[in-house]
Parts: sequence; structure tokens; C-alpha cells
Amino acid sequence: MGFEGDQDIPASHIPVVDLSNPDQELVARAVVKASEEWGVFQVVNHGIPTELMQRLQNLGKQFFELPDAEKEAVAKPDDSREGYARRYEFDLEKKTGTVDQLFHIIWPPSSVDYKYWPKNLEDYRKVNEEYATHVRMLSEKIMEWLSEGLGLRREAIKEVTAGEYMLIINYYPPCPYPDLIEGLDAHTDVSGLTIILPNEIPGLLVFKDDQWIELENIPSAIIVLIADQILRLSNGRYKSVLHKTTVAKEKTRMSWPVLVRPTNDTVVGPFPELIGHDNPTKFKPMAYKDYIYRKVRKLSFVDIDSS
Ligand code: SIN
Ligand code: FE2
Repeated sequence: MGFEGDQDIPASHIPVVDLSNPDQELVARAVVKASEEWGVFQVVNHGIPTELMQRLQNLGKQFFELPDAEKEAVAKPDDSREGYARRYEFDLEKKTGTVDQLFHIIWPPSSVDYKYWPKNLEDYRKVNEEYATHVRMLSEKIMEWLSEGLGLRREAIKEVTAGEYMLIINYYPPCPYPDLIEGLDAHTDVSGLTIILPNEIPGLLVFKDDQWIELENIPSAIIVLIADQILRLSNGRYKSVLHKTTVAKEKTRMSWPVLVRPTNDTVVGPFPELIGHDNPTKFKPMAYKDYIYRKVRKLSFVDIDSS
């Protein structure tokens, strides 16, 4: 693979699930297994029209190619979770910082603030609203399978985690020092589930069995990451995958993650139905906003130690 580093990145064995398989039970089992073993998988034939994905990608690219002053028109205020954040710098000491980002909520309508959506890009709103509809359908299906995989009602997970859908556009320009600098540092996502549309330049790596593995580019595929809140709800059954990104020397890498996450006051902890003698509680229930507060400040979660 075209990885521009000095490490040997092993070939990707990350699960790929074809959602159009008529045996939907088989599909559900593959999604559950991938979430238990990996916390990451790619889906193909997922129902999101390729043409819509391309339109979303073109609009995002157009936005980041605008002059700085125009991007600053939707700049992220310090006290806001939304807007354009310029984080692009080469800091060889910190080895990070090579990503510009745009954040805005795409669902539900009562949480959307168009102030942070790019202006003057034709159809930006229409395309994003259409994409939001499709991402919701896809993510709800996945959360239903994951709920049933735990032996619960199919609504169980989405009732907790599908409070808000936040789109991020990541823009990683070419970097002269791809061996020295990373895009995003290793992290797990704070959301419940993350649905990522990448462009064609590889660069997302996940950590499994003591190695970093690069995701293969599969045309029209969508990448699904299990994140912290589903790990907690499932009492550790589903993995919240550790991941990071690299940058390319001559190409611009972009990605469009949608974070599917609880509303701020939603309390998230393991489903009581899962807890018993042989499966003691591993995580302390906590409001989503308190979880974020602790994670951002790297405070201990004082999670209940099951050992
Ligand atoms: C991330 O959101 O953690 C990175 C996604 C990506 O750039 O592929
Ligand atoms: Fe992430």
C-alpha cells in the first residue's frame, strides 16, 4: 500500500461487510463480530448513493480551498463546539497539528445552527441534509444490530446514543515531513458510533494486537468506528477502537466523520440487563457531558474495577 512511512504496515484484514447480502442475519452477525473483535469495519452497498457522497466531498473540498478570510467567516468561537478551526501547522516537536477542521451539527433540526455552515457554496445545505438522512438510516441499522447482538430490544442503543449527529470535515494538506508528523494523534472517539466517509488517500490507522493497521481504500465504502459510549453501554463487549491518522507528502487527504452521540445530559452506563454474577459492571454511569469533561482533561474515570 502507498504508505509513506518507514514502518511496515501489515496488510489490512479489517472486516468488510456487504450490507446488501439478502441474508440479513448473516450481516448482523458480521457487524456484531467485527464490533466485538475490532471496533472497526468497512461497509459496502450501504445504501448511501455514491453520487451524493461525491457531491458532499466536492463541497467540502471547495470549502477548504476558499481563501482564508472566507473560511474565517464560519470560524469556531472558543466556547462553541461548531465552526471552522485552523489547526494546520508543522510542529516537528509536537509532531502533530496538520489538520484543519470544520464542525457542524447535521441532526436533529432543533440543534442545527446554520451560522456554522459554509455560505455561498451551491446546494451545501441540500446535500448535507440529504447526507444526514442517509447517515441516520445507516447508523440506526447498525445500532439495531448491535442492540440485538447484546440480546436487547433493537432500540436500546440508539435511544441512548443517537441524540445528535455532528459532521466533521478533516483536511490534511500535503506535508513535507510525513514520516515525522501525524495528522490526528492516537485516540478513541468520545461518541457512541462514528461513520466516516474518506477520500481516496489512505491514512487512517487502527491499533489491534500491538500493531497499527492501515485501512485499505475501498471505493464507495464507509468506515464505521465503535466509540466510547457503545463500549460503556455494552459493558466492554464492543470495542472502542484506538485510531490515528497520517498525512501524505504530495496529496491532500480528507475525511468526513459523523459522530453519533448522546445529548449532553444523557447518562450512559452499562445496560442493567447485561450485568450479573459473571459480568460485573465495568463502567460507572455518567452524563455524557461529564464524560467529555473528564476525558478532555485526562482525569481518571474511577471506573469500577472488575478484577
Ligand atoms: C478521526 O476522526 O479520528 C480521523 C478520521 C480520518 O481522518 O480518517
Ligand atoms: Fe477519531
